[in-house]
Amino acid sequence: MRAMRIVGLALAAIMLGGLALVASGQAEQSRIAGLPQDVLSQPMQGVHSAILAKFNYGLGLFRHVREPSRRADGSVEGLGPLHNAQSCFACHIRDGRGAMPDDGAETVGLVFNLVGPDGPDPVYGNQLQDRAVDGLLPEGRPVVDWHETEIHFADGAPIALRAPRFSIADLAYGPLDPATRIEARLAPQLVGLGLLEAVDEHALAALADPDDADGDGISGRLNLVEAEEGLVAGRFGWSATAPSLEAQSAKAAHLDMGLTAPGFEAPGGDCQPAQAACRALAHSDRLDLSANDIFLMAFYVAHLGLPDRPREQDGEVAAGEAVFGTLGCGACHRPVLTTSLDAPPEFADRTIAPFTDLLLHDMGPDLAGPRGSEWRTPPLWGIGLTEQVSGVTRYLHDGRARNFAEAIAWHGGEAEAARNRFLALDARERAALYAFLGAL
Ligand code: HEC
Ligand code: HEC
Repeated sequence: MRAMRIVGLALAAIMLGGLALVASGQAEQSRIAGLPQDVLSQPMQGVHSAILAKFNYGLGLFRHVREPSRRADGSVEGLGPLHNAQSCFACHIRDGRGAMPDDGAETVGLVFNLVGPDGPDPVYGNQLQDRAVDGLLPEGRPVVDWHETEIHFADGAPIALRAPRFSIADLAYGPLDPATRIEARLAPQLVGLGLLEAVDEHALAALADPDDADGDGISGRLNLVEAEEGLVAGRFGWSATAPSLEAQSAKAAHLDMGLTAPGFEAPGGDCQPAQAACRALAHSDRLDLSANDIFLMAFYVAHLGLPDRPREQDGEVAAGEAVFGTLGCGACHRPVLTTSLDAPPEFADRTIAPFTDLLLHDMGPDLAGPRGSEWRTPPLWGIGLTEQVSGVTRYLHDGRARNFAEAIAWHGGEAEAARNRFLALDARERAALYAFLGAL
């Protein structure tokens, strides 16, 4: 059984309330096998069969391996021309995060953003597409070089850190603009995102302290972004640039797979006016994805269920939770949030434990990229399942950290004090902290 902690409680509450939302959905089987590596791919438990039906449609779109098809006029549709992957699922491994194995196996879900002083690279656009349809050259091949350093805990135990340096091999359309910088981002896990979308914006704003009025060294700011409704809270992506799951999904379809969708209508996705061959293959007469397709993909992501936490009550895990509290990690990785009363019923009025505040924090120069040093606090729920789901553990926005110790040791800026307290822990306290994170 994969009954979920908070969801389970809420379901009980719903049934007591006598609402129509009783677990009738269980009549409809999910299409996902119950293998250990599929633990993040299960639908929320106890939802209505109409929700499961939409979830299954969205699942089909999310996993659909797209193939380009050639039209009578020579243009292609269905994928590309330039692209990074043929499905959403290809990068978000089993709905978990991407992977950068050391054993020579292929890197999965690492995207190179191209950042110029005034926007995208004039030739290569917003991101590197390392694949292309037949007859067109991919833009280039992403390359990551590592520079190892070693730091030490107060008790002398070492942590090997590796800083990435990014470059592009086999650039097919001439050099990058000299001012263009590369920022790499690893596909994040897709855990509990419908609940995070359901947290009231005012509740997030109340957590922000942009001028650090309380003097605790931690500020945090809401990233306000343009949406149809005006300025709203950005929540999704490593720097909280997407205000909704639909916005993130449409952008992904456009930039990662070259598909057009409402609001993302430029023919050929990220193919720039300077890329004449790509433009010639792109079609502009109809959209690849409808608003309903985007809705269903986002619906699928939103309704992925939270995994069970069987080890939550272990002694060592509980000790680690206390360490997490003492170090002050929860100032950003908030252990308790509540969702809005106005959200869809399956998400509304819940107390959740996502371990994020969805705010941007200055994480210091070591984690800074060309867009600066602010990152959104990533949710930590589900993080302990990374290896089980993605096959390898890679953390932080560019996947540089191979384990929890490295991930925490890279924290700087607003999190520097918490990191220094972490480095002062003894071996037993550290083990407890890792056990706690591993049980999330
Ligand atoms: C080429 C790899 C790749 C593909 C394909 C891809 N994604 Fe992603 N996805 C990413 C990366 C990288 C990020 C982080 C983006 C950022 O930080 O701006 C991300 C972020 C997300 C997020 C936000 C998660 C969070 O916690 O904030 C959602 C939702 C998402 N993707 C859904 C999709 C959907 C739906 C599709 C298919 C239409 C898709 N992705 C295809 C790489 C990919
Ligand atoms: C000032 C806010 C802040 C504090 C305090 C903080 N973190 Fe973080 N944490 C972040 C941000 C932001 C990131 C993402 C940084 C990046 O990707 O470059 C992050 C990333 C992580 C990750 C990797 C998550 C992932 O999905 O890859 C882990 C694990 C983590 N933090 C644990 C901790 C622990 C344990 C503590 C306490 C010692 C702590 N953090 C304190 C803001 C904070």
